[in-house]
Amino acid sequence: NLKSMSDLVALCKQRGFVFQSSEIYGGLNSCWDMGPYGVELKNNLKARWWKSMTLRQDVVGIDASILMHPTVWKASGHVDGFSDPMVDCKVCKERFRADNIDMTKPCPKCGSKESYTDVRQFNLMFKTQMGAMEDTSSMVYLRPETAQGIFVNFLNVQTTMRKKLPFGIAQIGKAFRNEITPGNFIFRTREFEQMEMQYFVKPGTQKESMEQWKETRWKWHVENGLRAEKIKWAPHGPDSLAHYADAATDIEYEFPMGWGEMEGIHSRTDFDLKQHQEFSGKNMNYVDQVNNEKYLPYVIETSVGADRCLLAILCDAYRLENAGDPDKERSVMKFHPALAPIKTAIMPLSKKSELEEVSNKLFEDVSANYKSEYDVAGSIGKRYRRQDEIGTPYCITVDFDTLNDHAVTIRSRDTMTQERIGIANVQNYLKDKFKF
Ligand code: GAP
Repeated sequence: NLKSMSDLVALCKQRGFVFQSSEIYGGLNSCWDMGPYGVELKNNLKARWWKSMTLRQDVVGIDASILMHPTVWKASGHVDGFSDPMVDCKVCKERFRADNIDMTKPCPKCGSKESYTDVRQFNLMFKTQMGAMEDTSSMVYLRPETAQGIFVNFLNVQTTMRKKLPFGIAQIGKAFRNEITPGNFIFRTREFEQMEMQYFVKPGTQKESMEQWKETRWKWHVENGLRAEKIKWAPHGPDSLAHYADAATDIEYEFPMGWGEMEGIHSRTDFDLKQHQEFSGKNMNYVDQVNNEKYLPYVIETSVGADRCLLAILCDAYRLENAGDPDKERSVMKFHPALAPIKTAIMPLSKKSELEEVSNKLFEDVSANYKSEYDVAGSIGKRYRRQDEIGTPYCITVDFDTLNDHAVTIRSRDTMTQERIGIANVQNYLKDKFKF
Protein backbone atom coordinates (compact mmCIF):
# COMPACT_ATOMS: atom_id res chain seq x y z
CA ASN A 1 0.00 0.00 0.00
CA LEU A 2 2.74 2.43 -0.93
CA LYS A 3 1.04 5.56 -2.28
CA SER A 4 3.89 7.57 -3.71
CA MET A 5 7.53 7.10 -4.56
CA SER A 6 8.46 10.12 -2.44
CA ASP A 7 7.29 8.25 0.72
CA LEU A 8 9.68 5.44 -0.15
CA VAL A 9 12.56 7.79 -1.02
CA ALA A 10 12.10 9.45 2.39
CA LEU A 11 12.04 6.15 4.28
CA CYS A 12 15.06 4.85 2.35
CA LYS A 13 17.07 7.91 3.28
CA GLN A 14 15.88 8.15 6.88
CA ARG A 15 16.49 4.47 7.60
CA GLY A 16 19.78 4.08 5.74
CA PHE A 17 18.75 2.10 2.67
CA VAL A 18 19.56 4.52 -0.17
CA PHE A 19 21.26 7.93 -0.22
CA GLN A 20 21.62 10.39 -3.05
CA SER A 21 25.08 10.20 -4.60
CA SER A 22 27.42 13.08 -3.67
CA GLU A 23 24.62 14.57 -1.57
CA ILE A 24 26.83 17.15 0.17
CA TYR A 25 27.56 18.64 -3.27
CA GLY A 26 23.90 18.85 -4.17
CA GLY A 27 23.74 15.33 -5.56
CA LEU A 28 24.41 13.94 -9.01
CA ASN A 29 21.28 13.52 -11.09
CA SER A 30 19.89 9.97 -11.01
CA CYS A 31 22.87 8.51 -9.16
CA TRP A 32 22.25 6.76 -5.86
CA ASP A 33 24.34 5.09 -3.17
CA MET A 34 23.30 2.01 -1.24
CA GLY A 35 23.43 2.64 2.50
CA PRO A 36 24.19 -0.08 5.07
CA TYR A 37 20.71 -1.69 4.89
CA GLY A 38 20.41 -1.14 1.14
CA VAL A 39 23.62 -2.99 0.42
CA GLU A 40 22.64 -5.93 2.67
CA LEU A 41 19.25 -6.16 0.96
CA LYS A 42 20.74 -5.91 -2.50
CA ASN A 43 23.46 -8.45 -1.73
CA ASN A 44 20.80 -10.86 -0.43
CA LEU A 45 18.80 -10.35 -3.61
CA LYS A 46 21.82 -10.89 -5.83
CA ALA A 47 22.85 -13.99 -3.84
CA ARG A 48 19.36 -15.45 -4.27
CA TRP A 49 19.50 -14.84 -8.01
CA TRP A 50 23.01 -16.30 -8.24
CA LYS A 51 22.00 -19.42 -6.32
CA SER A 52 18.83 -19.89 -8.34
CA MET A 53 20.90 -19.76 -11.53
CA THR A 54 24.09 -21.59 -10.66
CA LEU A 55 22.94 -24.30 -8.23
CA ARG A 56 21.89 -26.34 -11.25
CA GLN A 57 23.84 -28.58 -13.56
CA ASP A 58 23.25 -26.60 -16.73
CA VAL A 59 24.25 -23.03 -15.74
CA VAL A 60 27.70 -21.68 -14.82
CA GLY A 61 28.74 -18.14 -13.94
CA ILE A 62 31.32 -15.64 -15.11
CA ASP A 63 32.36 -12.11 -14.19
CA ALA A 64 33.47 -10.26 -17.32
CA SER A 65 35.15 -6.89 -17.43
CA ILE A 66 33.13 -3.68 -17.91
CA LEU A 67 35.50 -2.34 -20.56
CA MET A 68 35.57 -4.41 -23.72
CA HIS A 69 37.14 -4.18 -27.16
CA PRO A 70 35.26 -1.39 -29.01
CA THR A 71 34.47 -3.71 -31.94
CA VAL A 72 32.26 -5.74 -29.58
CA TRP A 73 29.76 -2.87 -29.66
CA LYS A 74 30.00 -2.50 -33.40
CA ALA A 75 29.24 -6.22 -33.80
CA SER A 76 26.44 -6.23 -31.24
CA GLY A 77 24.65 -3.41 -33.06
CA HIS A 78 24.96 -0.94 -30.18
CA VAL A 79 27.16 1.58 -32.01
CA ASP A 80 24.67 1.94 -34.83
CA GLY A 81 21.38 1.05 -33.18
CA PHE A 82 21.41 1.68 -29.45
CA SER A 83 19.93 5.14 -29.46
CA ASP A 84 16.80 7.02 -28.46
CA PRO A 85 15.16 9.85 -30.43
CA MET A 86 15.83 13.12 -28.63
CA VAL A 87 14.64 16.74 -28.87
CA ASP A 88 15.58 19.88 -26.92
CA CYS A 89 13.30 22.76 -25.99
CA LYS A 90 14.71 25.77 -27.85
CA VAL A 91 13.99 28.08 -24.89
CA CYS A 92 14.91 26.27 -21.66
CA LYS A 93 17.17 23.67 -23.37
CA GLU A 94 15.49 20.83 -21.46
CA ARG A 95 16.07 17.53 -23.21
CA PHE A 96 13.27 15.03 -23.87
CA ARG A 97 12.82 11.65 -25.44
CA ALA A 98 10.88 12.50 -28.59
CA ASP A 99 8.53 9.57 -28.07
CA ASN A 100 7.68 10.76 -24.54
CA ILE A 101 6.25 14.18 -25.39
CA ASP A 102 3.66 15.71 -27.68
CA MET A 103 5.68 18.12 -29.79
CA THR A 104 2.58 20.09 -30.84
CA LYS A 105 2.10 21.16 -27.18
CA PRO A 106 4.10 23.72 -25.10
CA CYS A 107 7.29 22.55 -23.37
CA PRO A 108 6.33 20.56 -20.24
CA LYS A 109 9.26 22.13 -18.34
CA CYS A 110 9.03 25.88 -19.06
CA GLY A 111 5.62 26.13 -20.81
CA SER A 112 7.15 27.88 -23.80
CA LYS A 113 5.18 27.65 -27.05
CA GLU A 114 8.37 28.04 -29.08
CA SER A 115 9.13 24.91 -31.07
CA TYR A 116 11.55 22.13 -30.38
CA THR A 117 14.77 21.28 -32.17
CA ASP A 118 14.68 18.57 -34.84
CA VAL A 119 14.56 15.03 -33.59
CA ARG A 120 18.00 13.44 -33.55
CA GLN A 121 19.25 10.01 -32.56
CA PHE A 122 21.18 9.99 -29.31
CA ASN A 123 23.44 7.00 -28.65
CA LEU A 124 23.07 5.83 -25.05
CA MET A 125 26.56 4.43 -24.61
CA PHE A 126 29.06 6.24 -22.38
CA LYS A 127 32.46 6.71 -23.97
CA THR A 128 35.76 7.01 -22.21
CA GLN A 129 39.47 6.93 -23.00
CA MET A 130 41.82 4.06 -22.31
CA GLY A 131 45.44 5.01 -21.70
CA ALA A 132 46.90 8.48 -21.91
CA MET A 133 46.20 9.24 -25.57
CA GLU A 134 42.95 11.09 -26.26
CA ASP A 135 42.40 9.97 -29.82
CA THR A 136 39.71 7.70 -31.21
CA SER A 137 41.99 4.67 -31.27
CA SER A 138 41.97 4.62 -27.47
CA MET A 139 38.23 5.21 -27.13
CA VAL A 140 36.29 2.55 -25.22
CA TYR A 141 32.70 2.25 -24.03
CA LEU A 142 31.27 1.47 -20.64
CA ARG A 143 29.16 -1.62 -21.37
CA PRO A 144 25.44 -0.88 -21.76
CA GLU A 145 24.54 -4.51 -20.99
CA THR A 146 26.45 -7.35 -19.38
CA ALA A 147 25.30 -9.82 -22.05
CA GLN A 148 28.15 -9.20 -24.51
CA GLY A 149 30.74 -10.35 -21.95
CA ILE A 150 28.96 -13.70 -22.06
CA PHE A 151 28.67 -13.93 -25.85
CA VAL A 152 32.35 -13.25 -26.47
CA ASN A 153 33.25 -15.88 -23.85
CA PHE A 154 30.84 -18.48 -25.16
CA LEU A 155 33.50 -20.85 -26.51
CA ASN A 156 35.90 -20.29 -23.60
CA VAL A 157 33.21 -21.39 -21.17
CA GLN A 158 31.75 -24.15 -23.30
CA THR A 159 35.08 -25.85 -23.95
CA THR A 160 36.70 -25.42 -20.52
CA MET A 161 33.53 -26.54 -18.70
CA ARG A 162 32.90 -29.29 -21.29
CA LYS A 163 29.27 -28.21 -21.55
CA LYS A 164 26.77 -29.77 -23.89
CA LEU A 165 23.78 -27.85 -25.19
CA PRO A 166 21.53 -26.68 -23.72
CA PHE A 167 23.48 -24.78 -21.08
CA GLY A 168 23.56 -21.26 -19.71
CA ILE A 169 26.03 -18.63 -18.51
CA ALA A 170 25.03 -16.27 -15.70
CA GLN A 171 26.54 -12.96 -14.71
CA ILE A 172 25.88 -10.06 -12.34
CA GLY A 173 27.51 -6.72 -13.04
CA LYS A 174 27.28 -3.02 -13.65
CA ALA A 175 25.96 -1.55 -16.87
CA PHE A 176 25.84 2.08 -17.99
CA ARG A 177 23.42 3.97 -20.23
CA ASN A 178 23.37 7.68 -20.80
CA GLU A 179 19.57 7.76 -20.46
CA ILE A 180 17.91 10.94 -21.73
CA THR A 181 15.28 10.92 -19.01
CA PRO A 182 16.40 8.94 -15.98
CA GLY A 183 14.21 9.09 -12.90
CA ASN A 184 11.68 7.54 -10.56
CA PHE A 185 14.29 6.96 -7.88
CA ILE A 186 16.36 3.88 -8.74
CA PHE A 187 13.97 2.75 -11.52
CA ARG A 188 15.92 4.33 -14.38
CA THR A 189 19.48 5.42 -13.68
CA ARG A 190 22.57 5.87 -15.78
CA GLU A 191 24.63 3.40 -13.77
CA PHE A 192 22.89 0.21 -12.69
CA GLU A 193 23.44 -3.45 -12.12
CA GLN A 194 22.10 -6.27 -14.25
CA MET A 195 21.61 -9.95 -13.48
CA GLU A 196 21.66 -11.71 -16.83
CA MET A 197 21.69 -15.30 -17.99
CA GLN A 198 22.17 -16.44 -21.59
CA TYR A 199 20.90 -19.96 -22.27
CA PHE A 200 22.36 -21.55 -25.40
CA VAL A 201 20.07 -23.98 -27.17
CA LYS A 202 19.86 -25.96 -30.38
CA PRO A 203 18.10 -23.93 -33.10
CA GLY A 204 14.46 -24.97 -33.27
CA THR A 205 14.15 -25.55 -29.51
CA GLN A 206 14.13 -21.88 -28.52
CA LYS A 207 10.34 -21.57 -28.10
CA GLU A 208 10.16 -24.44 -25.65
CA SER A 209 13.18 -23.12 -23.74
CA MET A 210 11.68 -19.64 -23.57
CA GLU A 211 8.49 -21.06 -22.02
CA GLN A 212 10.53 -22.88 -19.38
CA TRP A 213 12.54 -19.81 -18.48
CA LYS A 214 9.40 -17.66 -18.33
CA GLU A 215 7.95 -20.02 -15.75
CA THR A 216 11.21 -20.20 -13.78
CA ARG A 217 11.65 -16.44 -13.65
CA TRP A 218 8.03 -15.72 -12.69
CA LYS A 219 8.35 -18.21 -9.81
CA TRP A 220 11.56 -16.57 -8.62
CA HIS A 221 9.90 -13.19 -8.22
CA VAL A 222 6.94 -14.70 -6.35
CA GLU A 223 9.29 -16.66 -4.10
CA ASN A 224 11.03 -13.39 -3.23
CA GLY A 225 7.73 -12.29 -1.74
CA LEU A 226 6.40 -10.08 -4.55
CA ARG A 227 2.60 -10.28 -4.53
CA ALA A 228 1.47 -12.09 -7.68
CA GLU A 229 -1.23 -9.47 -8.36
CA LYS A 230 1.48 -6.79 -8.60
CA ILE A 231 3.34 -8.48 -11.45
CA LYS A 232 2.22 -9.22 -14.99
CA TRP A 233 3.48 -10.32 -18.38
CA ALA A 234 3.97 -7.69 -21.07
CA PRO A 235 4.77 -9.39 -24.38
CA HIS A 236 6.51 -7.28 -27.04
CA GLY A 237 4.80 -6.78 -30.38
CA PRO A 238 6.87 -6.66 -33.60
CA ASP A 239 7.25 -2.85 -33.26
CA SER A 240 8.87 -2.90 -29.83
CA LEU A 241 11.33 -5.79 -30.29
CA ALA A 242 15.00 -4.97 -29.67
CA HIS A 243 17.25 -5.22 -32.72
CA TYR A 244 18.54 -8.64 -31.65
CA ALA A 245 15.30 -10.43 -30.72
CA ASP A 246 12.71 -12.56 -32.57
CA ALA A 247 10.45 -12.74 -29.50
CA ALA A 248 10.42 -11.01 -26.13
CA THR A 249 8.27 -10.58 -23.10
CA ASP A 250 8.74 -8.48 -19.98
CA ILE A 251 7.74 -9.06 -16.40
CA GLU A 252 6.27 -5.79 -15.20
CA TYR A 253 5.71 -4.64 -11.64
CA GLU A 254 3.07 -2.16 -10.56
CA PHE A 255 5.24 0.65 -9.13
CA PRO A 256 3.58 3.68 -7.50
CA MET A 257 3.96 5.57 -10.81
CA GLY A 258 2.38 2.71 -12.78
CA TRP A 259 3.37 -0.57 -14.41
CA GLY A 260 7.02 -0.74 -15.44
CA GLU A 261 9.41 -3.32 -16.87
CA MET A 262 11.36 -5.22 -14.25
CA GLU A 263 12.77 -8.13 -16.27
CA GLY A 264 13.06 -8.94 -19.95
CA ILE A 265 13.06 -12.46 -21.38
CA HIS A 266 14.35 -12.41 -24.93
CA SER A 267 14.77 -14.92 -27.69
CA ARG A 268 17.95 -13.53 -29.28
CA THR A 269 18.33 -16.18 -32.01
CA ASP A 270 21.96 -16.59 -33.14
CA PHE A 271 22.19 -12.83 -33.77
CA ASP A 272 25.02 -12.11 -31.33
CA LEU A 273 27.20 -15.16 -31.99
CA LYS A 274 26.80 -14.67 -35.73
CA GLN A 275 27.78 -11.01 -35.49
CA HIS A 276 30.82 -11.77 -33.34
CA GLN A 277 31.85 -14.53 -35.73
CA GLU A 278 31.67 -12.08 -38.61
CA PHE A 279 33.45 -9.17 -36.90
CA SER A 280 36.15 -11.20 -35.13
CA GLY A 281 36.73 -13.67 -37.95
CA LYS A 282 36.71 -16.44 -35.31
CA ASN A 283 34.59 -19.54 -35.75
CA MET A 284 31.95 -19.50 -32.98
CA ASN A 285 30.31 -22.83 -33.89
CA TYR A 286 29.26 -25.34 -31.31
CA VAL A 287 30.40 -28.84 -32.17
CA ASP A 288 27.84 -31.52 -31.39
CA GLN A 289 30.01 -34.62 -31.31
CA VAL A 290 27.16 -37.06 -30.72
CA ASN A 291 25.22 -36.06 -33.83
CA ASN A 292 28.26 -34.92 -35.73
CA GLU A 293 26.89 -31.41 -36.33
CA LYS A 294 28.30 -27.90 -36.17
CA TYR A 295 26.12 -24.84 -35.73
CA LEU A 296 25.66 -21.51 -33.98
CA PRO A 297 23.38 -21.99 -30.97
CA TYR A 298 20.27 -19.88 -30.40
CA VAL A 299 19.97 -17.93 -27.17
CA ILE A 300 17.25 -17.35 -24.62
CA GLU A 301 18.18 -14.48 -22.34
CA THR A 302 16.75 -13.56 -18.96
CA SER A 303 17.75 -10.05 -17.94
CA VAL A 304 16.70 -8.35 -14.72
CA GLY A 305 17.96 -5.09 -13.23
CA ALA A 306 19.20 -5.66 -9.69
CA ASP A 307 18.31 -2.09 -8.73
CA ARG A 308 14.93 -2.17 -10.43
CA CYS A 309 14.09 -5.49 -8.82
CA LEU A 310 15.26 -4.05 -5.50
CA LEU A 311 12.89 -1.12 -6.03
CA ALA A 312 10.00 -3.54 -6.60
CA ILE A 313 10.96 -5.42 -3.42
CA LEU A 314 11.05 -2.15 -1.45
CA CYS A 315 7.70 -0.95 -2.86
CA ASP A 316 6.06 -4.31 -2.27
CA ALA A 317 7.36 -4.75 1.27
CA TYR A 318 6.19 -1.31 2.45
CA ARG A 319 3.03 -1.44 4.58
CA LEU A 320 1.37 1.18 6.72
CA GLU A 321 -0.76 -0.69 9.24
CA ASN A 322 -3.63 0.76 11.28
CA ALA A 323 -3.19 4.12 9.59
CA GLY A 324 -4.59 7.00 11.64
CA ASP A 325 -4.68 5.06 14.93
CA PRO A 326 -2.11 6.85 17.13
CA ASP A 327 -1.60 3.78 19.34
CA LYS A 328 -1.38 1.13 16.67
CA GLU A 329 -0.10 2.79 13.49
CA ARG A 330 3.18 1.38 12.26
CA SER A 331 5.06 1.30 9.00
CA VAL A 332 6.72 -2.02 8.41
CA MET A 333 8.87 -3.45 5.63
CA LYS A 334 7.59 -6.98 5.15
CA PHE A 335 10.65 -8.38 3.40
CA HIS A 336 10.93 -12.09 2.82
CA PRO A 337 13.17 -13.23 5.72
CA ALA A 338 15.84 -14.36 3.24
CA LEU A 339 16.08 -10.82 1.88
CA ALA A 340 15.73 -8.86 5.13
CA PRO A 341 18.94 -6.87 5.67
CA ILE A 342 18.91 -7.58 9.41
CA LYS A 343 17.60 -10.95 10.57
CA THR A 344 17.37 -10.37 14.33
CA ALA A 345 17.76 -7.56 16.84
CA ILE A 346 18.95 -8.37 20.35
CA MET A 347 17.51 -5.96 22.92
CA PRO A 348 18.25 -5.89 26.61
CA LEU A 349 15.21 -4.36 28.32
CA SER A 350 17.47 -1.87 30.13
CA LYS A 351 21.12 -0.91 30.35
CA LYS A 352 21.59 -2.87 33.59
CA SER A 353 24.90 -4.71 33.41
CA GLU A 354 23.38 -8.14 34.28
CA LEU A 355 21.08 -7.83 31.27
CA GLU A 356 23.78 -6.52 28.96
CA GLU A 357 26.05 -9.38 29.88
CA VAL A 358 23.50 -11.99 28.82
CA SER A 359 22.53 -9.94 25.75
CA ASN A 360 26.12 -9.51 24.58
CA LYS A 361 26.75 -13.23 24.79
CA LEU A 362 23.52 -13.95 22.90
CA PHE A 363 24.42 -11.35 20.25
CA GLU A 364 27.80 -12.95 19.76
CA ASP A 365 26.23 -16.39 19.25
CA VAL A 366 23.37 -15.30 17.02
CA SER A 367 25.32 -12.87 14.86
CA ALA A 368 27.81 -15.60 13.99
CA ASN A 369 25.02 -17.06 11.83
CA TYR A 370 22.64 -14.18 11.11
CA LYS A 371 23.26 -10.51 10.39
CA SER A 372 21.98 -8.98 13.65
CA GLU A 373 21.80 -5.73 15.55
CA TYR A 374 22.29 -4.93 19.20
CA ASP A 375 19.97 -2.17 20.33
CA VAL A 376 19.71 -0.83 23.85
CA ALA A 377 18.65 2.80 23.20
CA GLY A 378 15.13 4.08 23.90
CA SER A 379 11.88 2.43 24.97
CA ILE A 380 11.27 -1.13 23.82
CA GLY A 381 8.23 0.06 21.80
CA LYS A 382 10.38 2.55 19.90
CA ARG A 383 13.01 -0.06 19.25
CA TYR A 384 10.38 -2.45 17.83
CA ARG A 385 9.09 0.32 15.51
CA ARG A 386 12.58 1.01 14.25
CA GLN A 387 13.21 -2.66 13.51
CA ASP A 388 9.78 -2.86 11.80
CA GLU A 389 10.80 -0.03 9.49
CA ILE A 390 13.95 -1.82 8.39
CA GLY A 391 12.07 -5.12 8.13
CA THR A 392 13.81 -7.19 10.84
CA PRO A 393 11.81 -10.43 11.11
CA TYR A 394 12.60 -11.17 14.79
CA CYS A 395 13.40 -9.08 17.86
CA ILE A 396 14.81 -10.88 20.87
CA THR A 397 14.33 -9.20 24.24
CA VAL A 398 16.36 -9.99 27.34
CA ASP A 399 14.48 -8.95 30.50
CA PHE A 400 14.83 -9.42 34.25
CA ASP A 401 13.00 -12.77 34.16
CA THR A 402 15.74 -14.00 31.84
CA LEU A 403 18.12 -13.99 34.79
CA ASN A 404 15.93 -16.61 36.50
CA ASP A 405 14.32 -18.62 33.71
CA HIS A 406 17.19 -18.39 31.18
CA ALA A 407 14.61 -17.58 28.50
CA VAL A 408 14.05 -14.61 26.17
CA THR A 409 11.04 -13.12 24.39
CA ILE A 410 11.03 -13.40 20.62
CA ARG A 411 8.68 -11.01 18.85
CA SER A 412 7.62 -11.62 15.27
CA ARG A 413 7.61 -8.61 12.91
CA ASP A 414 4.57 -9.76 10.95
CA THR A 415 2.23 -11.05 13.65
CA MET A 416 3.64 -8.99 16.54
CA THR A 417 3.09 -12.06 18.73
CA GLN A 418 5.66 -12.89 21.36
CA GLU A 419 7.03 -16.26 22.38
CA ARG A 420 9.13 -17.19 25.37
CA ILE A 421 12.07 -19.34 24.27
CA GLY A 422 14.90 -20.82 26.33
CA ILE A 423 18.25 -19.23 25.47
CA ALA A 424 19.64 -22.68 24.70
CA ASN A 425 16.92 -23.11 22.05
CA VAL A 426 17.26 -19.74 20.30
CA GLN A 427 19.61 -21.00 17.58
CA ASN A 428 17.30 -23.90 16.74
CA TYR A 429 14.30 -21.59 16.74
CA LEU A 430 15.99 -19.25 14.25
CA LYS A 431 17.30 -22.13 12.15
CA ASP A 432 13.73 -23.29 11.72
CA LYS A 433 12.46 -19.80 10.87
CA PHE A 434 15.25 -19.06 8.38
CA LYS A 435 14.96 -22.35 6.54
CA PHE A 436 14.92 -21.45 2.82
N1 GAP B 1 20.74 -7.72 -22.33
C1 GAP B 1 19.39 -7.31 -22.56
C2 GAP B 1 19.07 -6.03 -21.94
O1 GAP B 1 19.94 -5.32 -21.47
P1 GAP B 1 17.05 -4.42 -21.41
O2 GAP B 1 15.57 -4.70 -21.50
O3 GAP B 1 17.60 -3.25 -22.12
O4 GAP B 1 17.74 -5.76 -21.94
C3 GAP B 1 17.23 -5.44 -19.03
O5 GAP B 1 17.47 -4.36 -19.89
C4 GAP B 1 16.86 -4.97 -17.64
O6 GAP B 1 17.86 -4.08 -17.14
C5 GAP B 1 15.56 -4.17 -17.57
O7 GAP B 1 14.44 -5.01 -17.48
C6 GAP B 1 15.76 -3.36 -16.30
O8 GAP B 1 15.43 -4.14 -15.16
C7 GAP B 1 17.26 -3.11 -16.29
N2 GAP B 1 17.57 -1.76 -16.79
C8 GAP B 1 17.68 -1.37 -18.09
N3 GAP B 1 17.97 -0.06 -18.16
C9 GAP B 1 18.02 0.41 -16.90
C10 GAP B 1 18.27 1.70 -16.31
N4 GAP B 1 18.56 2.76 -17.04
N5 GAP B 1 18.23 1.79 -14.95
C11 GAP B 1 17.98 0.71 -14.19
N6 GAP B 1 17.74 -0.51 -14.69
C12 GAP B 1 17.76 -0.68 -16.03
